[in-house]
Amino acid sequence: MGKVFARLDDVTLTYGDHVVLKNCSLDIMEGAITCVIGLSGAGKSTILHLLDALRPPDSGHVYIGDHDLCHLPERDLAALRQKISLSFQFAALLDSMTIGDNVALPLRENTELSEPEILHIVHDALESVGLAGSSELLPSELSGGMLKRAGFARSIVTRPELILYDEPTTGLDPIVTHLITNMIVALRKKLNGTAVVISQDLRSIFMMADYIAMLFEGTIIAFGTPEEIKRSDNPIVRQFLAGSEVGPIPI
Ligand SMILES: Nc1ncnc2c1ncn2[C@@H]1O[C@H](COP(=O)(O)OP(=O)(O)O)[C@@H](O)[C@H]1O
Ligand SMILES: [Mg+2]
Repeated sequence: MGKVFARLDDVTLTYGDHVVLKNCSLDIMEGAITCVIGLSGAGKSTILHLLDALRPPDSGHVYIGDHDLCHLPERDLAALRQKISLSFQFAALLDSMTIGDNVALPLRENTELSEPEILHIVHDALESVGLAGSSELLPSELSGGMLKRAGFARSIVTRPELILYDEPTTGLDPIVTHLITNMIVALRKKLNGTAVVISQDLRSIFMMADYIAMLFEGTIIAFGTPEEIKRSDNPIVRQFLAGSEVGPIPI
């Protein structure tokens, strides 16, 4: 195994008296795509929020590289967040702006780059998601799959080292799902970065994952390559992959 890029270390997180994560540990390997699987409400999105430093755990630690996010001053956290991009489940572009302006937004807001430099990066990002000709269009003129890709273009213009995707293919047809899955792999390579993907789409996960982690009842109960997970003899993993009503998972 390679280097660890990010780590949850013995994390516990609760909402009121609802324990979402309990002594949960997970290594995110550098330069790899790690997919987190688990039931709805298991806490998958919560893991992404921890990695994006949107909230601290109740106990335990979250590391990005050597930085313990729980002990960083707000200024350093803000700088670190610049290296991380969270692509939300329902990430929306601003309706009143062209696709090009939407994609340029993070650069115009967070960098001192000149306008020609920004236009160059935006063009490159749109090209890498197959939308080179769509810069002048409004979001209302794009299909759902195209909007998703434009959202990805926006999330890579700042060249993040870690991209977090929350259910990137939910609600998309099988062809667009396939396209988006390949795009996640291609964007990771292009950025030479690290990715974490949460998805309920097992086919797409087995296509793109370097590692799969299964979250169940607050902890990671299985971690391995797709081949290892496929061969897992953990009855919970087997039931989940089979989508069976019969097994140890309470329904
Ligand atoms: N802001 C919040 N306040 C209270 N409960 C929350 C909040 N966010 C999430 N939860 C609860 O935490 C659990 C895990 O949520 P989430 O991480 O979104 O699960 P998943 O992404 O696996 O479906 C769920 O039971 C959800 O209802
Ligand atoms: Mg979720």
